[in-house]
Amino acid sequence: MRYQRLFQREPWIDDAVIEGEAEKGREDEFDRSRPRRTSCMLSFSTALGYIIALCLAIYLLYDKQHSQNNHPYIRTPQPPIPGLHPPLKPRTLPITDWPIHPAPLLRQPPSPDVDAEWVRISNVHNLALTSAQVASLGKDPSRTVKVPPTWGLGDDAHLGLVTVLHQTHCLNKLRHAVYYDHYFRKGKGWGRLPPDEERSRYFTHLDHCLHFLLETVTCVADTSITTYNWMENRTLPVADFQANGQCRDFEALVSWHAENNVDAGRPEGEEERLWAALGPKEGDVILPRVAEVPNDFWDERIGPDSDVA
Ligand SMILES: *[C@@H]1O[C@H](CO)[C@@H](O)[C@H](O)[C@H]1NC(C)=O
Repeated sequence: MRYQRLFQREPWIDDAVIEGEAEKGREDEFDRSRPRRTSCMLSFSTALGYIIALCLAIYLLYDKQHSQNNHPYIRTPQPPIPGLHPPLKPRTLPITDWPIHPAPLLRQPPSPDVDAEWVRISNVHNLALTSAQVASLGKDPSRTVKVPPTWGLGDDAHLGLVTVLHQTHCLNKLRHAVYYDHYFRKGKGWGRLPPDEERSRYFTHLDHCLHFLLETVTCVADTSITTYNWMENRTLPVADFQANGQCRDFEALVSWHAENNVDAGRPEGEEERLWAALGPKEGDVILPRVAEVPNDFWDERIGPDSDVA
């Protein structure tokens, strides 16, 4: 089956083992079982109950310390989706807010290269999850959207969006708003504000993105610390945002996701056709509609475009 490769590949595993990175890479609290459990297995072979108990105690203690010290970015139990949890690697954040030149690509103002890179790292195509995987998220698979077998993903394929790719998508939308003149006034011929019929959608989405990122940032609550350095000819301290720590290998995730999302590898036009035909069917759980922002909400708050043109 063409689309059956979902969740079958974990390309970084072999590399991690070969490079002796197994311990480092596996300290993800949800992948943690393998290396340490293997060493525990040796103790098991002695078949002495008290050694088993000791091993378990050490395992739990060691594990607790490591998960607290090394995983500041992992906030909730993750579902058992093989491939979605790349190993950790040393953190290399942008070092400073100094106007460095040349800046890294993703820190640069709009250009075709910059736009393409943002698109690449914010691929919001869904994954297909089994009922068991949905249940492991603490959600009820009888209530989540399942795609029909015509998608080629079997008869138990529930749609799921990877949060970090939604977050990068939101950052990209906020970036477009920062460079509004470039992307909207010049790009779409919009005015000083989006046209009336687009206004609610535009601001609602941006407000959603701001709030979603705020919720994420405050949830993760990064407690690493910025220190300062002196710089030649500067009388004020210059910030060094480079905090020691570990990060997920985001590139590994992006590559895996690009090949394993539900739309990957589909022939021209098929993706659009499938999505256009997707809808609720007999027996699906339908939520009641929640209240929506009225159309004139934005006019009341920021005024019609003519006020500021
Ligand atoms: C720092 O200041 C000195 C003295 O004014 C000057 O010669 C030097 O070029 C400056 N260095 C930089 C990197 O601007």
